[in-house]
Amino acid sequence: MPKTFYITTPLYYVNAPPHLGGMYTTMVADTIARYKRMMGFDVKLFCGTDEHGQKIERSARALGTDPKSLADRVFTQYLDLWKKIGIEFDEFVRTTERRHHTSVGELYKRAKAAGYIYKGEYAGWYCVSCEAYAPETDPATPAKCPDCGRTTEWFKEESYFFKLSAFQDKLLDLYEKNPHFIRPESRKNEIATFVRGGLRDLSISRATLKWGIPLPDDPSHVFYVWFDALIGYMSGVSFNSDDEKFNKYWPADVHLVGKDILRFHTVYWPAFLLAAGLEPPKTVFGHGWWLFKDEKMSKSRGNVLDPYVLVDTFGSELLRYYVLREMVFGQDCNFSFDAMIQRSNSDLANDLGNLLSRTMAMIAKYRESRVPSPGQAKGDEDVRSAAARVIESYRSNFDEFNFSRGLENVWELISRVNKYIVENEPWVLAEKPADASKLDSVLFHAAEALRIIAALLEPVIPQTAATIWNQLGLDGKVADVRIDSLGWSQDLAGKKVRGGTSLFPRLDSKEVYKRMDAASDAKAGPAAVPVAVPEEAQPLAAQITIDDFAKVDLRVATVVEAERVKGADKLLRLIVDLGFEKRQILAGIAKAYEPEKLVGRKVVIVANLQPRKLRGLESNGMIVAASIPPEGTPVLAGFLEDVANGARLK
Ligand code: MSP
Repeated sequence: MPKTFYITTPLYYVNAPPHLGGMYTTMVADTIARYKRMMGFDVKLFCGTDEHGQKIERSARALGTDPKSLADRVFTQYLDLWKKIGIEFDEFVRTTERRHHTSVGELYKRAKAAGYIYKGEYAGWYCVSCEAYAPETDPATPAKCPDCGRTTEWFKEESYFFKLSAFQDKLLDLYEKNPHFIRPESRKNEIATFVRGGLRDLSISRATLKWGIPLPDDPSHVFYVWFDALIGYMSGVSFNSDDEKFNKYWPADVHLVGKDILRFHTVYWPAFLLAAGLEPPKTVFGHGWWLFKDEKMSKSRGNVLDPYVLVDTFGSELLRYYVLREMVFGQDCNFSFDAMIQRSNSDLANDLGNLLSRTMAMIAKYRESRVPSPGQAKGDEDVRSAAARVIESYRSNFDEFNFSRGLENVWELISRVNKYIVENEPWVLAEKPADASKLDSVLFHAAEALRIIAALLEPVIPQTAATIWNQLGLDGKVADVRIDSLGWSQDLAGKKVRGGTSLFPRLDSKEVYKRMDAASDAKAGPAAVPVAVPEEAQPLAAQITIDDFAKVDLRVATVVEAERVKGADKLLRLIVDLGFEKRQILAGIAKAYEPEKLVGRKVVIVANLQPRKLRGLESNGMIVAASIPPEGTPVLAGFLEDVANGARLK
């Protein structure tokens, strides 16, 4: 029976469309899963979406929809994106699924039966963005969120508590006895210090929130979203419904998470599991952040990179290669388009692409497309031992989550083979019949090295690996190669190569930026609208009197017509109905809203603004919108209740 390997990505929030940060974890998890499959493991890769909680409920409201519809929409975007970037998951859990509700209820019942749940009253500062409580409990002193630094909100209500305080020693013992439980090593101390500082019981239910899983024995409460979502990892392997499957894959081998959510996974989660008499996962790996200009990319900062635009511009293979090669797993890394273009041109197009295309071209030209049996040439032995060395170090680097180093190893082999070709000058050998056996050897060694390279690259760039495999004339799938027994072989001798087009085109940065703009323009629409609040408060404008404010006549209106203004990529021409009159307004919102989707929408306008001309068209008023940094993306103001056109805002 093959050994099992259960690896999970976080369950992503569905309050906004996917972004690169989240996509990264999934790309790494997919890479590890593919690698482990090729090492002979029976692998399960888990993905999921975290669909309950205050954050989703509020975002849905802000978008004028309900939480389930928003969750359905964003879940579909995740599925679509995973497909686009070649994620082969085995399990997917949405926390709104019934089977998941049952497993959450079951874990709660077990923890309660063991005496770890009680009812009390919760009062404290809550961060809706992180869905987490701040440690401060003084109602008079507003607290900042310890994780993200945002302003928190005061909540006071009846709540069910989990006795986290009872787990301090058990958790420290777990970390001590399982040195691989928290990785990387550098994060272990941080967590242990936090636990040593003392643990307060955790409120695990909310009575004022509706959007969640009701407690089985008190449906007037719903579960705290982290209690709910973490259990998703067990729902993925049929906790409480198929014991055979659950026992086969649980405990999970690795939970891959970003460092910002390491505490939830290494403190709360093992405590919940121990309380219910279940085993904690074997490893939780907290990776670093992708930064953009040294700042964490996050939906609320508005500096996220749209993964669709990235995939459309660069292709999923380059993206996968770039993120795995560039980021030392565990550390932060700046995302740079220039570095990505450079990696593409030098590593992929030049080193790898050229090795394949010239090997294919020479086998076609000198040996009628058949890989010859090896003879003897200068450096043969060296290439073979380089391949053996590289396979070994690649394996130990991948086993240790050092993907960047593992890829460097593969490129050592690529460089060695390129050098070997140059040193032997096959184009010169081809001219002398006496050197035929040397030429045979060069062609064979280059092709065989490429077979090994393709296998080692499959976990990271699966499509490219499959293309190399196919061009070499090999049958079957490269993904079926066993990396645990991979080694130099004679399999290719006599095979007819298929050849084909080059692997990666050379990228010109100007062209790439143009393509990226075009992809962003095509993508702009309500899905791209950031829904969270800006991170930093902007300085307030100078004080005014109530009379000053009364001079501004704000009115409710409905958009009845909307179209783009030719030649102005930011402007929309709108006709709005104020109830007592219709008028034309030009609004700079074309990058964030598609005109056809605005028709019928209630908006707020400044109705007594002096008319002015834009692009030769008169604009008679102004639409009110929030401006989200850093680009000032507009988000239109609106109402939760129905309001008649013409109503004045005071
Ligand atoms: N829903 C919770 C996870 C529950 S798991 C039981 C959540 N979701 S999330 O959508 O906000 O974030 C998911 C992951 O994306 C986290 O692991 C987070 O670290 C990662 N990233 C978000 N921004 C990131 C970067 N800029 N860079 C790398 N990863 C980061 O948290």
